[in-house]
Amino acid sequence: MTDNPNPTSDAGPSSIVEPGSYYGYPLPYLSIGGYPGKIIAIEGSDGVGRSTQIALLREWLEVQGYGVIETGWTRSSLMQPTIDLAKSSNTLNKLTFVLLYATDFADRLEKEIIPALKAGFIVLSDRYIFTAMARAGIRGVDRGWIRSLYGFAIAPHLVFYLKIDVDTLIRRVLESRGMNYWESGMDMKLGDDIYDSFRAYQRQLLKEYQSLADEFGFRTLDARKKVHVIQDELRRQVGEFLTASDTPSMGPLAG
Ligand SMILES: Nc1ncnc2c1ncn2[C@@H]1O[C@H](COP(=O)(O)OP(=O)(O)OP(=O)(O)O)[C@@H](O)[C@H]1O
Ligand SMILES: [Mg+2]
Repeated sequence: MTDNPNPTSDAGPSSIVEPGSYYGYPLPYLSIGGYPGKIIAIEGSDGVGRSTQIALLREWLEVQGYGVIETGWTRSSLMQPTIDLAKSSNTLNKLTFVLLYATDFADRLEKEIIPALKAGFIVLSDRYIFTAMARAGIRGVDRGWIRSLYGFAIAPHLVFYLKIDVDTLIRRVLESRGMNYWESGMDMKLGDDIYDSFRAYQRQLLKEYQSLADEFGFRTLDARKKVHVIQDELRRQVGEFLTASDTPSMGPLAG
């Protein structure tokens, strides 16, 4: 598969799509206009601190009376066992890898995300389609093709990007849970051992995330800061957005 010099296809995700609408070709049987809920996505590489921030944000939103659901990458009930199996048996190739992830996302979109938007919930998404794009992009999957594949995704209302440098990420991952095969990109054969591979792989991945951040206009948070400093900024920006969006059927203690 080759690279596409014009990465943003007409049918796929771009930064100019209105939040809450489909990026490209919609699911034909599911029109989604005017739902009161919001999608807030937290993107960032492996072990950067996404779960930590989402847990704290959720607590804060719930205390204010918002209904919140969380959705996360590869967590669909349909696909999680298959993805786990494919990873553990190392039988993923580039295309099946991309399509399994897309199926996982489609399953969660229909079963979790769209119903929650309809019901006026805030959907906190631990990674969104951009992680799939970043991982596929550095593996040589055509960037135009993957954008058009995800045309059925709904543009999030806010995307936060936890930005980190590779040295800080390595320290954080080693201190918490160690490096694993996939997060080290061992399938890409970038280094002799898991440490070298992790460094080389994550360096490429962080570059890819940065180019997505520029393309899609992510809100960047400095992930090297302390947990509460990041959380304060996240709450400030989310609070501002929710106040400004002023959706009557949503909001603190609605309904
Ligand atoms: N800002 C921070 N400063 C220092 N350590 C942090 C920070 N944020 C998170 N951590 C620690 O880093 C580790 C990974 O955090 P967390 O599980 O939130 O990351 P994650 O992005 O969800 O990881 P994964 O990719 O495995 O889901 C945890 O031990 C957590 O306590
Ligand atoms: Mg996590």
